[in-house]
Amino acid sequence: MSNSKNIECLKGVILAGGLGTRLYPLTKVTSKHLLPVGNEPMVFHSIKLLIETGITDILIITSPIHIGDFVSVLGSGKDFGCEFTYRVQEEAKGIAHALESAEGFAAGGSIVVLLADNIFESSIQQLVSDYKIQKTGARVLLKEVDDPERFGVASLNGNHIDSIEEKPVQPKSNYAVVGVYCYDSTVFEIIRSIEPSSRGEYEITSVNNVYIDRGQLQYSFLQGEWVDAGTFEALVEANNLLMNRKE
Ligand code: DAU
Repeated sequence: MSNSKNIECLKGVILAGGLGTRLYPLTKVTSKHLLPVGNEPMVFHSIKLLIETGITDILIITSPIHIGDFVSVLGSGKDFGCEFTYRVQEEAKGIAHALESAEGFAAGGSIVVLLADNIFESSIQQLVSDYKIQKTGARVLLKEVDDPERFGVASLNGNHIDSIEEKPVQPKSNYAVVGVYCYDSTVFEIIRSIEPSSRGEYEITSVNNVYIDRGQLQYSFLQGEWVDAGTFEALVEANNLLMNRKE
């Protein structure tokens, strides 16, 4: 398939694995991504963001203990007007590790990947449109934050990202890398080439740094508010963001 044809048939991947230990005891019952945010389970937000961009072929990746809950809540996708495929990540070995299991689903095409605990005030349509023009490589979104040490942090040099550091103690900027990424099919070969980080995870930041080294990573700035709902405080913020947006 040529790149131009490929890029028009983008598929979506929602990463909803991991243990959610920072949200114990809530996540002893079910996945963090099925907890309520606004008036729906958290993962509905990622699904709707993808559907808004025209993506209706969506892979959900989650842990073995939670996969049953996801299938019960989401079903085939008929109620959303999309089609779900499910995969299990056997062990929570990092975001890039989870993404590796999307290779068969992607089938050589490009993908839009969402971390299911990321909540956005606005749509991701601009990112997807910009990536369709970009056609190959990777594209990320940046957002200026007050607490960059919680995130992947981009070091900017003019129009380029020089490097991204994962949760740096002394961040080089305030630009956090948001949890939505566009990748071409080389992402899987890159994932297989990276080593686990010092915390033992296959980091999405390592993948993005390979794209940077190849001169194939571009970025835009995220418009609107954004919350990584991985902590109790952030979960409250995410609720407020979506409830206010609905008003
Ligand atoms: O929210 C944006 C940040 O997300 C980025 O700035 C960071 O670069 C990126 O590493 C990530 O950091 P977090 O510390 O927030 O990642 P967390 O471990 O919370 O995982 C985020 C989501 O990824 C989680 O909701 C489910 C999925 N995940 C995570 C792991 C570790 C998986 O599906 N499998 C996994 O093994």
